[in-house]
Parts: sequence; structure tokens; C-alpha cells
Amino acid sequence: MSRPHPRSPRLLKPKRTVSIIGTGSYVPERVLTNAELEKLVDTTDEWIVTRTGIRERRIAASDEYTSDMATKAAQKAIEQAGISPEEIDLILVATATPDMFFPSTACFVQRQLGAKKAACFDMSAACSGFLYALEVAQQFITSHTFNTVLVIGAEKLSTIVDWNDRNTCVLFGDGAGAAILRNRAGSHGVISTYMGSDGSFTDILSMPGGGCRFPITRDNAAQRLNTIKMMGKEVYKQAVNAMLTAANTALEQSGLKADDLACIIPHQANMRIIEAIAARMNVPMDRFLINLDKYGNTSAAAVAIALDEANRTGRMKIGDYVLLVVFGGGLTWASSVIQW
Ligand code: UT7
Repeated sequence: MSRPHPRSPRLLKPKRTVSIIGTGSYVPERVLTNAELEKLVDTTDEWIVTRTGIRERRIAASDEYTSDMATKAAQKAIEQAGISPEEIDLILVATATPDMFFPSTACFVQRQLGAKKAACFDMSAACSGFLYALEVAQQFITSHTFNTVLVIGAEKLSTIVDWNDRNTCVLFGDGAGAAILRNRAGSHGVISTYMGSDGSFTDILSMPGGGCRFPITRDNAAQRLNTIKMMGKEVYKQAVNAMLTAANTALEQSGLKADDLACIIPHQANMRIIEAIAARMNVPMDRFLINLDKYGNTSAAAVAIALDEANRTGRMKIGDYVLLVVFGGGLTWASSVIQW
């Protein structure tokens, strides 16, 4: 009897389709309106709305941490997916505001969920984190390393905002969004993904303090180095270009055209950025999911919360093509085309 030709076991395994089988999100109860910010810094509701589109944002309670919000979003995604926490092989938390440097926020989430079998780690790609994590999850699933992955974007940005700086404090909010990814051969799922970074722009958007470069000292704290520093105009310019490149690249790789997209879910930083992208892509604004008026910029959570909103409000029907596109500190950017 002839022996079978030796081949890599990976080559013998069937191609996998990575599907999102459940989504969830959570935002804290406390609403902070533009009118309240008028009392805090020299700003107006009119300036904030016309320059950003933001009307209010959510602020977590002092004892409500990133892992708590992440867990609540995850529980909803798990419920919708109809799985048990023990089926999760990997938990990825994208965040710029982890509970602690270590252990990872993902480990805190694991404990709260009872997802005993999961491997856990956090990912740092600022506002692009959720799509970076989605891509990493997809790679683990297509390589047959894991079958079921929980991806979360969660932030408590209110703890790193300088509430004296009107340039930034009006922009950000707290919240979390989650998705369960699983191999579902022969079904709909992630079609294309794209990620990019440019480390030559590390200075234009950062939180410099707290790490080894500017550790927590009295001096560094006095200079508020543990808060968000942003060169808004420069970031704006880069954001439009990078998100356009990302959107076009993922579209090209998917073989689809902008017209084929039922819904576009962009990073929720500024309405004018989204309008500029819509104009350059020649796509009507009503195809973009926008919720920044309610939540502000929640960094890694933003696109995850928006995805859950699109899912739960029926913005995407089975078989629809959806584009997610993000941008953030690093600089980083990413995009993904998904057939829902
Ligand atoms: O998620 C990460 C990615 N982040 C982003 O994508 C943010 C990108 N950048 C932006 O969204 C916009 O640049 C901002 C919303 C941050 C700022 O809008 P802008 O149109 O670029 O305004 P600006 O920074 O050029 O400031 C214009 C004026 C300045 O006053 P002067 O110098 O012209 O007298 C600012 O001091 O507006 C002033 N200003 C404000 N006025 C009232 C800045 N912030 C405020 C404020 N209220 N909150």
C-alpha cells in the first residue's frame, strides 16, 4: 500500500470563514452635555457642534473601570451569539486606558465573564485598536489556532482627559463595544482587512506620561503629562488621508466598489472628517453610521459601539457588505470589509 504524500497539516485543513456571530455594547449612564462643558471651560455648545458634531458624551462612574464596561459589552455579545463563556478561546481587549499596565484588562474581563479556557491579552493601537484586534483574531482563526475569539474595544478616556484643556476635553467619552468571531465555513464573514501605521507622527497625538519615558512623578503630574495631548489640525489632516487610503485599500482587496456597500462604519471622531471622506468616496452621508453626537470620540470603543448599533437597529441585513474604517494615535489606521 502506498503511503500518502507528506504535506503540511495546515494545507490539508479547509479554508475558514471568520464571521461575527454576536455584538454588544455598553455606555455609562452619566451623560455630560455641551451645556455642562460650557461651565467647565471657555467653550460653547455652538462651537462644539459646528466643529465636531458632538452634543453629549458618557462618563463612567469613579468605581466603574474599563474592564467593567468591556465585560458588560461582552456579555451582550455572548448572549446574542448564543455561546457560553467557556467556549471562548481568546479574549483581545483594545484599549488606551487599561485598568492597569498589568495584568491585562483582558484578564480582568476573563475573570468577570468566567471564560476559564481563554488566553488573554490587550492591544495598543489607540483609536484603531478594535480593527487591529479584529484582524489579529481573524488570523488566529484562519490559522486554526483558535475557533472562537472575543474582541473588545473599551475605554475610560475621562481618566486621561485634561478637563482644563478646551481643545481636547470636549471631544472624548467612555464606553465599550464587543464582537464574537468564529469560524463558520461556507458562510458570510470578513472579506478583507488592512492595517497601517506611521511612527513619525508619535508626537501629534499621545498621552506621554505614566510610562518609562515620563514616569509618575510630582513634576510630570504637574505638567499634566498623564493626559491626552493632541495637535488637532494636524491630526485632522492625517485622519482624512489615512482613512481614505484604508477604505480604498480594503475595498480594492474585496473586489467591491463603494456603491456595493450598504453601510460604512467610520471612527467617530469628528463629523467633518466623516463628511470629507463621504465626499471624496462619493458616497451619500446616509450610508455612514454616525453616533458621535451621542457618545463623542470613545477611541477604540467607537467603531465597536457603532457596529453593535448598526447590528441591533437593522442597518445591516444578512448578505449586506459593510466597511469599517478607523484612524488613531501612532499614527495608526485600519479597515475591513465584511459580508454580514
Ligand atoms: O480619535 C483620534 C483622532 N482625533 C481626531 O481625529 C481629531 C482631529 N481633529 C479635530 O477633530 C479638530 O482639529 C478639532 C475638533 C480638535 C479642532 O477643530 P479645528 O477646526 O481644527 O479648530 P482649531 O484647533 O484650529 O481651533 C480653532 C479655534 C482656536 O482659536 P483661535 O486660535 O482661532 O483663536 C482654538 O483655540 O478654536 C479654538 N478652540 C475652541 N473654541 C471654543 C479650540 N477648542 C475650542 C473649544 N471651544 N472647545
